[in-house]
Amino acid sequence: MASPSLVILGTGYTGRLLFRQARAEGHVVFAASRKPETNLPGIPPEQRLRFDLDHDETWEAIPTQADAVWTFPAAPSDTVCEFGERIVPRLRRLIVLGATSAYDGSPQAVRGEPVDESAPVDRSIARVEGEELLRERYGAILLRVAGIYGPGRNPLDWIRQERVGYSHRYVNLIHVEDLAAIILRILEDGVPGDTYNVSDGTPRRWSEIMDTAAARWGTAKPLPADPTAGKRISNRKLLAELGYTLRYPDLYKALEELEQRK
Ligand SMILES: NC(=O)c1ccc[n+]([C@@H]2O[C@H](COP(=O)([O-])OP(=O)(O)OC[C@H]3O[C@@H](n4cnc5c(N)ncnc54)[C@H](OP(=O)(O)O)[C@@H]3O)[C@@H](O)[C@H]2O)c1
Repeated sequence: MASPSLVILGTGYTGRLLFRQARAEGHVVFAASRKPETNLPGIPPEQRLRFDLDHDETWEAIPTQADAVWTFPAAPSDTVCEFGERIVPRLRRLIVLGATSAYDGSPQAVRGEPVDESAPVDRSIARVEGEELLRERYGAILLRVAGIYGPGRNPLDWIRQERVGYSHRYVNLIHVEDLAAIILRILEDGVPGDTYNVSDGTPRRWSEIMDTAAARWGTAKPLPADPTAGKRISNRKLLAELGYTLRYPDLYKALEELEQRK
């Protein structure tokens, strides 16, 4: 049977890479944007859709029985629920990208323990509430995604541009190519209504990254900042239940590759 078409709701950084990867794997892919003519150069017009959560007349463009990947904050919750009622039942699968910041303040995060999918999330954050509604009521598969990096989003540039301060705070990262491959895997093998953490599985302290970057790539050490501890995200479920093998398990090898592309 031919694979269902895939609609990427919001074709930004992750969406663009996902579009290319899905197309290379033979999927029929549609890229959606609020402004397809201006924001989707390089995507053939017949594969562009206009989609804006805030304009429900655009929702009908999503093909029936398609898979969909939601790549922007799922808020406000009343609009998200209306989308859930009207559109999700006619989709095959829906994946929603959330952020691991939903776990900030959970007991596991505060105690510095690995944070797995059983940790409570902060539903007072509008997008977290929207994500959980899509998951609980409408069977969306929710990915709690660590910091996304890759070509054009190089953590060494964040250090060079002093966008991050020197601290012992933990950071969790995932390479965009792994994220896109994991999305495609989860469309096939993920369990509707379930949550998966997506990270490379190695929480690192910014201080360690900055010391290594200074030694290997000659970046300057920024001023101390941010005394908070951060959290350590577990990706055990992703690797164990889906059997996914990371393309970029080692941040430093990935950074070396990004530096060589320059
Ligand atoms: N960046 C990170 O490190 C990180 C970490 C964890 C989780 N996340 C989450 O992961 C997801 C993907 O991240 P990303 O950095 O790839 O996102 P991104 O580059 O911001 O792309 C999302 C796209 O969604 C579209 N969009 C925004 N609001 C919309 C709305 N109301 N209706 C329809 N489309 C809308 C925008 O495209 P148009 O303007 O063309 O419509 C935007 O470019 C996001 O939800 C992000 O919050 C990001």
